[in-house]
Amino acid sequence: MEFRPIGVVRSPYSDKAQIPKGPGAEHEAEGVLEVLPEFEPGLVDIEGFSHLYVLWVFHRAEPFELLSSPPTDDRPHGVFATRAPRRPNPIGLTVVRLLRRDGPRLHVRGLDMLDGTPILDIKPYLSSVPAGEIRRGWLADAEARGHTQGRSPQSGPPPTTAGSGAKMAFIDVSTLPQREVIPGYRARFLHGQGMTAAYWEVDAGAAMPEHAHVHEQIANVLSGEFELTVAGERRRLTPGTAALIPSDVRHSGRAITACRLLDVFNPVREDYR
Ligand SMILES: C[S@@+](CC[C@H](N)C(=O)[O-])C[C@H]1O[C@@H](n2cnc3c(N)ncnc32)[C@H](O)[C@@H]1O
Repeated sequence: MEFRPIGVVRSPYSDKAQIPKGPGAEHEAEGVLEVLPEFEPGLVDIEGFSHLYVLWVFHRAEPFELLSSPPTDDRPHGVFATRAPRRPNPIGLTVVRLLRRDGPRLHVRGLDMLDGTPILDIKPYLSSVPAGEIRRGWLADAEARGHTQGRSPQSGPPPTTAGSGAKMAFIDVSTLPQREVIPGYRARFLHGQGMTAAYWEVDAGAAMPEHAHVHEQIANVLSGEFELTVAGERRRLTPGTAALIPSDVRHSGRAITACRLLDVFNPVREDYR
């Protein structure tokens, strides 16, 4: 069996130490998946997908070890129960957000691999596993014991992951990093084990294009007035009215006034980590 790379990753990371690590790590790095010209026809229609799986080679990994000590715990685990680079077949798997396509170049966010990493394959990201059925194994135990070390030295504020249900966490939301997700929509994210809360500040008139995701969503207006359209039905929301948006239902929105919104998602919005 022999695999041939279909392209190469252009990422801002030249050194492994620069890449955020651990469960609270935020993978915000943007870069390009450069697909070789001969494979470009294979990208037809990829623009319609918000997220992609990238399968790639840990081309700068050490020889494999079957017991691995990840930065997320102080105990070793079987390599196949981790995402460690040192594996018998050194294949990496990363979910990235597709920002835009420029011919054979896919501009993406969410990279956790080195510049020059060979790409084996790209596939659309589709998740069909109900949140309630997902178990997080030793990671949940490690989080409950408070193991969140191993983050990038430059990653700044404390982890936004609140840990398992066993651990109570009080969080000053104003200290979470804020990010402009699309023009006029700035959010702070808080990730639990099975849910994400997004605290938005939205400029008056800013529009959220129609989209859908596998996550169930409960949308709340904390202040201001927001027009929400769910499956073609349009409503003006003010504080006190919530909207329940089921999985995979198309929706869009527009801020009538400057707004503060709170969206709760289940399962976790990995793309917002
Ligand atoms: C924990 S692995 C997870 C990678 C991927 N998300 C996965 O689940 O397969 C990510 C780490 O692999 C290392 N790494 C990234 N690119 C690499 C490469 N091309 N060769 C060897 N190690 C690499 C970096 O230390 C990075 O922090």
